[in-house]
Amino acid sequence: MTTQGRTAIVTGAGAGIGRATIRAFAGNLIRVVAVDIDAARVHAVADEIRSGGGCRVPVVGDVASEATAATAVEIALAEFGHLDMVFNNAGIEHVATVLETPSEDWARVMEVNVGGARLMARTCLPIMMRQRNGIIVNNASDAGIRGMKMAAAYSVSKAALVQLTRSIAMDYAEFGHSMQLRLSRMYQDGSVSAIQCCGRRAGRNDGRTNPSGVRGVPRSDAPSRIA
Ligand SMILES: NC(=O)c1ccc[n+]([C@@H]2O[C@H](COP(=O)([O-])OP(=O)(O)OC[C@H]3O[C@@H](n4cnc5c(N)ncnc54)[C@H](O)[C@@H]3O)[C@@H](O)[C@H]2O)c1
Repeated sequence: MTTQGRTAIVTGAGAGIGRATIRAFAGNLIRVVAVDIDAARVHAVADEIRSGGGCRVPVVGDVASEATAATAVEIALAEFGHLDMVFNNAGIEHVATVLETPSEDWARVMEVNVGGARLMARTCLPIMMRQRNGIIVNNASDAGIRGMKMAAAYSVSKAALVQLTRSIAMDYAEFGHSMQLRLSRMYQDGSVSAIQCCGRRAGRNDGRTNPSGVRGVPRSDAPSRIA
């Protein structure tokens, strides 16, 4: 895939996997709207990309707020004219069992880890459908597939994110001529492995079958670079 000139929104862009992704995108001439709740972090990574000649716009905001998704998408369209990719990466952990997790912490993990991706999808899907082109990558976790000790809220949120991704892929597979939706696992070194890919070669989906024909099996044995 030619990446030059494409536009991406990356959430949780100020640190860790998000920051590594922005750096990889900049190296591949992908224009980025970088979203993070931490103003200092997102401005630091944006300045770094700009000083290297990359094209980026920082957005300070909480992905749990509808306004953040609206702002990021508006900026992508106003600055770059189109939106090709969204990487829903922002996520938080809460280290505790189900008994030890206060309700407000449980709710916060859900609203950031699942709600953030849902709000971003609701905002960008109409644009991607109009374009008949678009990639959404949601950053889930093994915790959402196999579970994890002392991470009840986090594991549940990531399992929900996996199913959100599948729901979106199945519901919008009819745009499969040019739309791709991938459920991917991403590693700290910037490599990704596909768990499920829908679109491009898919025909209309009757809602009963996996629209891509690709089984929902993690392919951690065959990671591939994102860019
Ligand atoms: N690090 C891992 O080993 C690992 C493994 C599996 C999955 N993940 C997932 O990858 C994603 C990134 O992980 P990481 O280790 O790079 O995280 P990190 O904590 O290093 O960075 C996360 C970034 O997201 C930002 N952020 C947090 N809450 C936010 C919000 N509400 N709105 C906007 N930005 C917000 C933080 O400010 C930070 O810059 C998470 O979704 C995490 O669950 C990470």
